[in-house]
Amino acid sequence: MNQHAKSAVLVSRTATVLVAEIDNRPVNALSHSVRAGLAAALDELERDDGIEAMVIASRGKLFSAGADITEFGSEMREPFLGEIVARLDSSPKPVVAAIAGRAMGGGLELALACHGRIANSDAGFALPEVKLGILPGSGGVVRLPRLVGVDPALTMIAEGKEVSAAAALDCGLIDRLADANLQEAAVSFAAELASPGALRRASTLPFPPFDRAQQEEARKRYAKKYRGREAPQRAVELFAMAAVTPFEEAARREYEVCRELLSTSQSRALRYSFQAEKAARKIENIPDNVEPLDIARAGVAGCGTMGRGIAIALLDAGIDVALYGRKEASLASAREAIAKTYASAVKRGRLTEDAVQGRLSRLATTTDISAMTGCDIVIETIAEDLEAKRELISAIDNVANDDTIIVTNTSFLDLEALATATSRPKNFAGMHFFNPANLMKLVENVRAKNSSAKTLVTLSTLAQRLSKTAVTVGAAEGFVANRMLSKRTREALFLLQDGATPAQVDRVLTEFGFPVGPFALADMAGLDVLAATRAARFDGMSERERGADIVERLVEAGRLGRKSGEGYYRYASDGRQSEDPSVAELLENHRRERGISARQIADEEVLERCLLALINEGANLVDTGTAARGSDIDVVWTRGFGFPTHLGGPMFWASERGLPFILDRLKHYSATVGPEFFAPSELIDRLAAENGRLVG
Ligand code: COA
Repeated sequence: MNQHAKSAVLVSRTATVLVAEIDNRPVNALSHSVRAGLAAALDELERDDGIEAMVIASRGKLFSAGADITEFGSEMREPFLGEIVARLDSSPKPVVAAIAGRAMGGGLELALACHGRIANSDAGFALPEVKLGILPGSGGVVRLPRLVGVDPALTMIAEGKEVSAAAALDCGLIDRLADANLQEAAVSFAAELASPGALRRASTLPFPPFDRAQQEEARKRYAKKYRGREAPQRAVELFAMAAVTPFEEAARREYEVCRELLSTSQSRALRYSFQAEKAARKIENIPDNVEPLDIARAGVAGCGTMGRGIAIALLDAGIDVALYGRKEASLASAREAIAKTYASAVKRGRLTEDAVQGRLSRLATTTDISAMTGCDIVIETIAEDLEAKRELISAIDNVANDDTIIVTNTSFLDLEALATATSRPKNFAGMHFFNPANLMKLVENVRAKNSSAKTLVTLSTLAQRLSKTAVTVGAAEGFVANRMLSKRTREALFLLQDGATPAQVDRVLTEFGFPVGPFALADMAGLDVLAATRAARFDGMSERERGADIVERLVEAGRLGRKSGEGYYRYASDGRQSEDPSVAELLENHRRERGISARQIADEEVLERCLLALINEGANLVDTGTAARGSDIDVVWTRGFGFPTHLGGPMFWASERGLPFILDRLKHYSATVGPEFFAPSELIDRLAAENGRLVG
C-alpha cells in the first residue's frame, strides 16, 4: 500500500480501491480539514482510471461525531459537507462507508450518501442534531426514510435516538456487518458494487408514504414529549414536504431549514447547554492530569432511601457494594427494596434476569462497620443530623484503609464540621445526590476546604461512571442546588401570601417550561419533609420567611401531600390532581391573621419573581465562588430541576434577556416586594453596567 496524507484524511489504495481514512481525533468531527481531505480523495477517485471504487473509513474510536460544533457561529469554509455528500451520491464509481464505533450527525449523513454501508457489530448510529435545536442539513432527512422507512427515521431524526448495529442492519440502514477485518471487508464490498448494475443510491429510492394522519399523530406526540421545542416539529414538516417533493428540491429545503434553526435562540441555548456540561467536568484550581483513584469496591453507610438508591447506582456501574446499616431488619428491607427495583426493571424489559443476579451478587449487606475496610470509597448517607453523621464518619475513618475516600451525602450540613470528624481531610468531600439517587442525573460534588485534587477528580469520574452529571461546588449553606431552590420556594410562598393561588404559580412555571410547578413538586416530596427542612433552617430564616408558615399549617391540617391524598391540591384515588377550596380558605385565614390583603397578581409578576429569585441568588453564588462559573448553575438547573434546556438555564436566560433589563426588574421588586429579597447581586450590578453576561 502506498499512503500519503491529505490534511485530516489519510488516503491509501489497494489494486483498484481507494481508501480514505478520517483522522481528526478525538471524535473525527467534520472540520474544514476533513472536508477538504474528502474532497481531494473524491478528486482522485474521479481522476484515476485505475481506481474502480472508494472506501471511507476512520482512525480512532469512532467513525465521526459529525459537524464540528466549534465551527458553528463562524463563517463556514468551503467545501461544505453538502457538496461532498452530493458528489458522493452522484459518483459513477461506488463508495462504501466502513463504520467502526459511532457514526453521528454529519458523519452518518456522509455514510448515507455512500452506496454501501458496512459496520462493526458494536457500532452506533445517530442523528443527534435535534438535541442541539437543529436538524440534519446534509441529506439525513431526505435519505434516511428512503432506506429505513418513516417511523425508524422519525425516531432518529426528531428524537435523536441512537440505534445499534444490529438494529441498523435490521431496518436497512446498513447493508452488512463485519467484525474481523472491517476495512478489508469494506474494500471487497466496494469492489462488488463496481460490477455493472450493482450500485444503488438512496436518493433514487422512493420516499415512503407519510400521510396527513401520520403527520398529525407525530406532531401531537412530539408537542407532548418535547414541549416548547421547535426542531422536532420542523422535522415532521420536513418529512411531509420530502414525501411529495423531488429529491434535489427536498434536499435544498432540508439545508435551508437547518440553517434557519441554527440561528434560533433555542439552538443557541441547546448548544450552550452541551458546552456547559463539558465545562462542568473541569474542576477549578486543580492541576491538570490528576489521576482519579480506581474505584472497584464502595461502601455505603446508611440503608435508607438514599443509601438504597446510591447502592443501585453503584451496582449498575459495575462497582461492588458493601451496604452498612445498624440493624439487621433495616438491611433486610433495604435488600428487599433493591431487589424490587430490579424486578421492575426486568418487567419493563430494561434488564435481564441474569444481569440482575449479577448485580445482586455484588451486593453485600452488613451491620459490621469493619466491612468498610477494603473499600476504595465510603459514602455516608444517614439522616441529616450533624452529631450522628460525625460519629459515623469517625467510625468509618477508624476502619477504612489510609487512601480510602470518605464522602458525606448531605444536602445542607456544614461540611467543614463533618471533615473534622476524620483524620483524612484531604480524602474527604461531599456528594449531594438527589432522590431517587439511582435515577436522578445530577450530583453536586462538594469541595471542603482541604479536599485534595485527587479526591475531587475521583468523585467527578465516579459520577460519570454512574451516568450522572457532576458539578463541583463550594461548601456554602445549601450548596448551589438547594440554596437556589429554597429562594424560589420562598418566593412562591410569598406569592401565595400576596394573593396568588398554588395552581396559578404552578401553571405559570409549567407554561414557561418546567415539567412541574413548585407546589405540585412539594406535594410529591411530602409536606412533612419540607416542614422539617424549614424547621432545620429556622434560625437562618428572616422574620417574613418564618411567618410564611403555610407548609406548617397544611401539615397541622393533616395534609402531607400526595401520600395523604391532600396537600396544596387534592388527589383522587387514581392520582388525578385538583384544586381544593379548603386550601384557598386556609390561605385566606393565614393572610387575615397577618393583615395582608390579597391582590390580583399578574402571571408576568409570578414568573419574574420566581425566576429573579433564582437568578439573583445564582449571581451571588458565582460572585462568592461557591459556583465556579455561571454555566455550572445552569447545569444544576437543567439537569437537576427540569429548567427547560432549550432556554439554557437561569444564568443563560438572564444573559439573553440582557442584564440591564434584569437589574431594572430586580430594582422594581426590591422597591415593591422588599430589598431583603431582591436587592441586586453586586455581580449583576457590575455586569449590567458594561452590558455583560453571566455566562460566556
Ligand atoms: N464537534 C467538535 N467537538 C466535539 C464534537 C463535535 N461534533 N463532539 C465532541 N467534541 C469534543 C468535545 O467537546 C470534547 O472536547 P474537550 O475534550 O475539549 O472537552 C471532545 O470532543 C471529546 O468529547 P466527549 O464528549 O468528552 O467524549 P465522549 O467519548 O464522552 O463522547 C461523543 C463522544 C461523540 C458521543 C459526544 O461528544 C457527542 O455526543 N458529541 C456531539 C455529537 C453531535 O451532536 N453531533 C452532531 C453535530 S451537528
